[in-house]
Amino acid sequence: MAAARGAVTANQGVLATDREGKQHAVALRSGQSLMRTLKYDGGLDIDAICGGNAICGTCHIYVDADWYDRLPEPEDLEAELLDQLVFTTATSRLACQVRGGPDIAGLRVTLAPQE
Ligand code: FES
Repeated sequence: MAAARGAVTANQGVLATDREGKQHAVALRSGQSLMRTLKYDGGLDIDAICGGNAICGTCHIYVDADWYDRLPEPEDLEAELLDQLVFTTATSRLACQVRGGPDIAGLRVTLAPQE
């Protein structure tokens, strides 16, 4: 597993699996979106074309089933976009709409395929 900046363990931050199957443990920042954490702190390949406004879908992630119900429910805009994506599953989220913080330490996600 490749630890990104600052030797974070999976239980302290988010453990993200990239599209090649490589795992990255990235520290969470309170109030910062998971998209920004994964893209800018973790260096994961997320285009984030819309800048985190739930419009582009390029930050699509799969949340581990054990974690999905522990996150706040998607709001309408996010749910509508997820409905339009090809690779959406029952545990899909837009990383730009999930806020980081200690309450989600240990979260596990996987980047969805690019559409
Ligand atoms: Fe565009 Fe999340 S960054 S939908």
